Amino acid sequence: MVSAKSDKMVLIVVLKAYIKRPDHPKVKGALIMIKIRVLNGPNLNLLGIREPDIYGCLSLQDIQRRLEKEAANYSIDLDFFQSNHEGEIIDRIHEAFTAGYNGIIINPGAFTHYSYAIRDAISAVRLPAIEVHLSNIHAREDFRSKSVIAPVCIGQICGLGIDAYSSALFALHKRFQS
Ligand code: DQA
Repeated sequence: MVSAKSDKMVLIVVLKAYIKRPDHPKVKGALIMIKIRVLNGPNLNLLGIREPDIYGCLSLQDIQRRLEKEAANYSIDLDFFQSNHEGEIIDRIHEAFTAGYNGIIINPGAFTHYSYAIRDAISAVRLPAIEVHLSNIHAREDFRSKSVIAPVCIGQICGLGIDAYSSALFALHKRFQS
């Protein structure tokens, strides 16, 4: 049986962890589930059809299904969203903050290379974000090797196809375990 006293101690530990690192889900360990938002930018709705030699044959729905399975294994609550519109992606980043998400995985598509607005949104909410790409953006056209988003992310994973998303999810899972 858990006493009121030990309940209080758990709460203090949890609050201390939270004050040190607001994104830290030790808070969640006790009270809340980890929530990760996965955002996909323009043209990624066409995966499976779009340049399969570069992006592979899987659809975005296939990626979503796989990530949802993996998230369930980690007991992570996953939210998946795609938009061709910059403002909608920015709104979802802001909302990730207000709705208490713990981290973001983002494939900004071509916005990667020029959207200062998405960069500023990630920087504003200060949630740990990982930028992912199916293709190796550093081995393609010159304009793709520059990401204006990566500097405000905790990491960038590219060139591994769908495994880029899985690796990002795993990395966030590990981050929140420690
Ligand atoms: C991409 C790479 C971008 O350069 C491109 O504009 C995309 C997809 C990728 O996942 O490899 O739309 O983000």
